[in-house]
Amino acid sequence: MTLLDVENLWVKFPTRQGVFDAVRGVSFTLGKERLGIVGESGSGKSMTGRAILRLIRPPGIVEADHIALEGRDLMQISEKEMRGVRGQQISMVMQDPKFSLNPVMTIGDQLVEAYRLAHKSGRSNARQASIAALESVSIRDPERVMRAYPHEMSGGMGQRIMIAMMLIPGPQILIADEPTSALDVSVQRQVLSIMDDLVTSRGMGLIFISHDLNLVADFCDRVLIMYAGRVVEVCDADKLHQATHPYTRGLLNSLPRLDQPRGKLDVLKRDPAWSDAPSVSGRA
Ligand SMILES: Nc1ncnc2c1ncn2[C@@H]1O[C@H](COP(=O)(O)OP(=O)(O)OP(=O)(O)O)[C@@H](O)[C@H]1O
Ligand SMILES: [Mg+2]
Repeated sequence: MTLLDVENLWVKFPTRQGVFDAVRGVSFTLGKERLGIVGESGSGKSMTGRAILRLIRPPGIVEADHIALEGRDLMQISEKEMRGVRGQQISMVMQDPKFSLNPVMTIGDQLVEAYRLAHKSGRSNARQASIAALESVSIRDPERVMRAYPHEMSGGMGQRIMIAMMLIPGPQILIADEPTSALDVSVQRQVLSIMDDLVTSRGMGLIFISHDLNLVADFCDRVLIMYAGRVVEVCDADKLHQATHPYTRGLLNSLPRLDQPRGKLDVLKRDPAWSDAPSVSGRA
């Protein structure tokens, strides 16, 4: 079943030197699956995710033949209707969670407010649900976390709280933009397995954005590989090691590690043909 259908998506930024195309004609569908979007820094991953939620700030421009959420074209609806979609149907965990949580409000107050907004419920009911949401992302002392402020949390806790927050409205689609890249490897695995459980048990669609192709290969079902705003290759995750595109091969070999700067991809020879070829369709 197709939850989301994106056709010919462009994100353009007018600059003094002319229009810069950050995303160039990307098409894909998302079902109840884990879809990875990978590519090096600047390839257009975050702009793709943000464009789906119409969160590109002016002067940036989004164009698409359609961005259909269960048949409803998000390009055609009003900003007010779009706020409803953002609050309830599609949630996004942003690349830097520090910008998504309010620093002067306790975590509990933020969760309770989000719950009340989404479900029009009373305070004590919202409180119970917030504690349950924290427990669902394996936070063992939810009462203490409810009373804490965002800066009192470690990176891993912060990410889990963000995921709990995004799940409160019960969205059909979660867009997670580098949700684990700031975490050390063991915490990273934990957060991934929490997301995995949630996606499987709730039947959600997940768009998982990352620069780490090997991580995405393990975690996702299908992968779009982006280069310079285009999709250059689409792969089933379990067939990734048979990928043919030289850029994909370069990403696979670059094995980004926390303790070492990325090396190999930088020496990879880039072919102008990669960015001139039309975007590959990611329709399932
Ligand atoms: N406001 C803006 N004005 C001009 N160009 C922009 C603007 N915002 C983003 N871009 C450009 O759009 C391109 C795609 O950016 P995007 O954030 O999607 O990259 P990304 O693949 O998410 O990279 P990263 O892995 O570093 O997060 C980049 O080249 C970026 O410089
Ligand atoms: Mg990004």
